[in-house]
Amino acid sequence: MAGGVAVPQLAAAVSEAGGLGFLAAGYKTADGMYQEIKQLRGLTSRPFGVNLFLPQPETAAPAAVDVYAHQLAGEASWYETELGDPDSGRDDGYDAKLAVLLDNPVPVVSFHFGVPAREVLDSLRRVGTLTLVTATTADEARAVERAGADAVIAQGVEAGGHQGTHRDVPEADGSGLGLLSLVAQVRESVGIPVVAAGGIMRGGQIAAVLAAGADAAQLGTAFVAAHESGAHALHKQALTDPLYVRTELTRAFSGRPARALVNRFLREHGPYAPAAYPDVHHLTAPLRKAAAKAGDAQGLALWAGQGHRMARELPAGQLVEVLAAELAAARTTLSAGGAR
Ligand SMILES: Cc1cc2nc3c(=O)[nH]c(=O)nc-3n(C[C@H](O)[C@H](O)[C@H](O)COP(=O)(O)O)c2cc1C
Repeated sequence: MAGGVAVPQLAAAVSEAGGLGFLAAGYKTADGMYQEIKQLRGLTSRPFGVNLFLPQPETAAPAAVDVYAHQLAGEASWYETELGDPDSGRDDGYDAKLAVLLDNPVPVVSFHFGVPAREVLDSLRRVGTLTLVTATTADEARAVERAGADAVIAQGVEAGGHQGTHRDVPEADGSGLGLLSLVAQVRESVGIPVVAAGGIMRGGQIAAVLAAGADAAQLGTAFVAAHESGAHALHKQALTDPLYVRTELTRAFSGRPARALVNRFLREHGPYAPAAYPDVHHLTAPLRKAAAKAGDAQGLALWAGQGHRMARELPAGQLVEVLAAELAAARTTLSAGGAR
């Protein structure tokens, strides 16, 4: 979870409790990622993962970003800041990060927003790293398998944060699959292990996706609220605040569809935000920073999955244990039902 949520302390607590903690390197520099890996290694000797974003193609309509910048001018003066430079970088040092991960291998690397080249996946395998790639359709999952990844993450439309679609196609908006449908379709489409992600907040839901054909589950929003999470306190509180009644997929903050709690910024700018990632991400960065400084949750990107109301503010290790106990109980119920 990029944006300062998946800090080493959170990843360490999850891995120590028997889960697989992840560091978010999507928005980090290669050196920033390396420093976090070192820090994490000092906190745990258990396996962990590092998540990377695929570099994105040039924005098709740069003029649309200029228009959006004009539409955000009022926000900049409200928060007494400047808009960011939309051209601040398209890949955040992807190649440099891969080089670090080949020189200093980690147990697992996962990829979001596309499929890495076969050579990348092969070279990571050669240094002993397991690779995972997100897919949001059965076709994308087949592409992940063809490229040679070890496992595919099937990300349902319920998921918090960015949809990991391989290409951002605005015409496909609204066609996202719910997790159970997606897992069943992906299971029948590929032979590699499937990790289910999206809206999972309880162990019983993990049992459900395992029964549907997944081999593992990935939880994001549930851990945003954890004590060790680096999420802004307002973000953590908002997950269960009755003020936020629903989530929506929006391009308002980054230019790519991502699920967040509906707040003022999303409501006002979501309807016309262009498909231009990461340009819009860079453009809005100072606004989000200023909103955080001002303690204004209405201007933050409150990433959250559809299950956000069920978030529990616990130490991450305890949350892993509770989820494991719920999973065990649900599986006992399932097998007892099967035996009748
Ligand atoms: C705050 C937040 C940040 C996220 N950042 C990333 C990221 O950097 N890379 C990534 O692959 N997925 C990211 N995701 C998506 C998760 O990997 C996962 O698909 C999602 O959290 C699952 O749905 P859930 O949030 O309902 O559990 C993020 C999700 C959240 C909630």
